[in-house]
Amino acid sequence: EYKQIFQNPLPFPPNKVPKSSYLNSTTGQYIDYYEIEVKPFEQQVYPGLKKAQLVGYDGISPGPTFRMERNREAVVRFVNRGEKDLSVHLHGSYSRAPFDGWAEDVTKVGQYKDYYYPNRQSARTLWYHDHAIHHTAENAYFGQAGFYILHDPAEDALNLPAGDYDVPLALASKQYNSDGTLFSPASETVSLYGDVIHVNGQPWPYFNVEPRKYRFRFLDTSISRAFKLYFEVDGAIGKQIPFYVIGSDAGLITKPVQTNNLEISMAERWEIVFDFSAYSGKNVTLRNSRKVQADEDYNSTDKVMRFVVGTTVKSQQGNGNIPSTLRSVPFPPTKSGVDRTFRFERRNGEWQVNGVTFADVKNRILAKPPRGQVEIWELQNGGGGWSHPVHIHLIDMQIISRSGSRPVLSYEKEALKDVVLLGTSETVQVIARYAPWDGVYMFHCHNLIHEDHDMMAAFNVSSLGD
Ligand code: C2O
Ligand code: CU
Repeated sequence: EYKQIFQNPLPFPPNKVPKSSYLNSTTGQYIDYYEIEVKPFEQQVYPGLKKAQLVGYDGISPGPTFRMERNREAVVRFVNRGEKDLSVHLHGSYSRAPFDGWAEDVTKVGQYKDYYYPNRQSARTLWYHDHAIHHTAENAYFGQAGFYILHDPAEDALNLPAGDYDVPLALASKQYNSDGTLFSPASETVSLYGDVIHVNGQPWPYFNVEPRKYRFRFLDTSISRAFKLYFEVDGAIGKQIPFYVIGSDAGLITKPVQTNNLEISMAERWEIVFDFSAYSGKNVTLRNSRKVQADEDYNSTDKVMRFVVGTTVKSQQGNGNIPSTLRSVPFPPTKSGVDRTFRFERRNGEWQVNGVTFADVKNRILAKPPRGQVEIWELQNGGGGWSHPVHIHLIDMQIISRSGSRPVLSYEKEALKDVVLLGTSETVQVIARYAPWDGVYMFHCHNLIHEDHDMMAAFNVSSLGD
């Protein structure tokens, strides 16, 4: 049992700096070149017990944070000095297919691969993580995940909380062995919920904040655990403090949406503005109330982290009212009908999409959307009590309907997404434009155990069409 709840400070991974920059004299634009070494490191999680053996980007986890400017391209060399094959996916980027982290495009131990990232999309919170065939769960869980934040002038002009007041928070749920080492998900075939909640690599941390507004960028890097987050202040236990959702997987949403709690499943990003000004000198605790059939709960999985609110405000930057409109989100044009249907289902002990697994090489391309076409995909949960966060590479999608236990959530309605939670027995319709590039891309369940057991398929965007 972990005893140091809210005793250790929230860690922050360092920002990644380029090794060199190259001026393309034709375009007048710079291309930045970065190098990341994937290598082993140790983390003392349980005092007095063994250290956990991890493998991470630059030997830390989460990996270093990339802070990128829109329209400034990047090349990142990932050098494998770890123990297993790896493949790197920049989740949220419309990368060209050869740089998208295709599961079988692995970099062996001792080798490297250079990934090209266009950074042409508008400001958003992305993350880079492992995507290697059949051991994505292990690699991501043992450390290979990090933030990649894209900024742009339009967002900067809104004067939202920035700098020290713009805080990325990577959630994870893990399980340890009794000797202090990390339990491996390698032989799991269903899910690994984990009983130890981490934020930025530290179990149940605390964070000193000023009594003012903060922007928090939440990312759920867990293998199998989804959260329903809420804030409460000491002395008012269970009373949920309202806050504003301002961003999603694809950057700012149309307008701030007030809510008392936030549902976030694996690989989703949700950004919020929380105002601590009424809680000077108090503790505000971030908690989890998700209780559904599919999640196992433990003693402390209802707690996430604590904010220790100080009494002085050092800067008023971004502390004014949140603008009432954030941006005009580029939703695809509306249309009717369903173009394709995909059923995520466990059948005959296999995790399948429309009866196919990723191992079925000849049949795994399930769709060939002509490039530029707007399509409605219906995603169905085939039942059994599992939920499946479905991630479609390349595109941003709008959630147009959800039937089953939950409606489309208030903040989902204002958002573009690249992951959508398909709760137990839910059916969700999403609309997206299959663009901007031709190429074969993956779509899959982001419960990494399901993904590693081949609940993954592909689609081929082609200017030639079907
Ligand atoms: Cu975040 Cu295909 O993955
Ligand atoms: Cu799944």
